[in-house]
Amino acid sequence: MIDFDKEDLLFLAPLAGYTDLPFREVVKKFGADVTVSEMISSNALVYNSAKTLKMLEKSSCEVPYIVQIAGNNEKIIKEAVLILNDMPGIDGIDLNCGCPVPKVVRQGSGSALLKDLSKMSKIIKTIKKNSNKRYTSVKARLGFDSKIAKEIAITCENSGADFLTLHARTRSDGYKSDRIDYNEIKEAKEVLNIPLIANGNVVNLKSYKNIKNITKADGVMIGRGAIGNPWIFYQIKNDIQILKKEKIQEIVLEHFERMLDFYGEKATGIFRKHLHTYSKNFADATAFRDKVNRVEDPFVLKQYIKSFFAS
Ligand SMILES: Cc1cc2nc3c(=O)[nH]c(=O)nc-3n(C[C@H](O)[C@H](O)[C@H](O)COP(=O)(O)O)c2cc1C
Repeated sequence: MIDFDKEDLLFLAPLAGYTDLPFREVVKKFGADVTVSEMISSNALVYNSAKTLKMLEKSSCEVPYIVQIAGNNEKIIKEAVLILNDMPGIDGIDLNCGCPVPKVVRQGSGSALLKDLSKMSKIIKTIKKNSNKRYTSVKARLGFDSKIAKEIAITCENSGADFLTLHARTRSDGYKSDRIDYNEIKEAKEVLNIPLIANGNVVNLKSYKNIKNITKADGVMIGRGAIGNPWIFYQIKNDIQILKKEKIQEIVLEHFERMLDFYGEKATGIFRKHLHTYSKNFADATAFRDKVNRVEDPFVLKQYIKSFFAS
């Protein structure tokens, strides 16, 4: 299902608050091979919150589709997996071992699992044993404070993970650009038998080639580089840099239509953050953002988009 031998295997990273169903549909159109849900708390899933179930919905074009869960309690994780087992169209369950947010870390979830690899191993085994999905995977940072990517990689493989994604920073590195360490991913790749996906700071073809060359990873995952630039997947696969403004207008309008379908009237407010990034490199972006921040009517917003992105 996931072709790990493919030349340019590209994943869309989970980005809480951004990579919802409408956005994933848009990137799919531009050639993203694998999409992943936003992080879903295993607790929230087990307690059946309507918001969580909405976050799990996928588009029919999302094949393969991976759901990412977070948690540190094996019993709750098992219950969450059993719930996901009853949902068709999910091809894998990914364990979040990278989230740096203090609230998540305090609960022993996300990147906190990198401080306790035996706990991480038990959770991976719990998912693998109970899941009826094709893939069990892990997305991790290089470590919590210190870099232990090789140990993480070996633990994941020995616990039954089918593939691993590594974000090239530790938890302490946050998102600092100068902390990116692709060599640490390369070293993990050398000890692994399962496929490895490399992640961190890929924003164009040049940075894509760089991460591939250094890490020799089987695939690359792109997060922030796709926000405001969902065509990055097409650019990488086809070596095209410039996109005409009228094409951008078409994409932005289509993205907004999909948001309206998915969120109804709330879409106008939720879409603002995307408009901020779509308009980033254009003249008069500040005035445009100021206008869209105050609009509530989707029809008016569409008119603003049409005139701002007019050629
Ligand atoms: C706003 C935001 C939300 C994120 N949400 C998640 C998440 O839900 N699950 C996860 O594993 N990583 C999450 N991440 C981390 C990204 O998936 C990715 O690993 C990180 O941004 C580095 O890749 P990039 O430089 O391509 O963005 C998030 C990052 C950001 C900036």
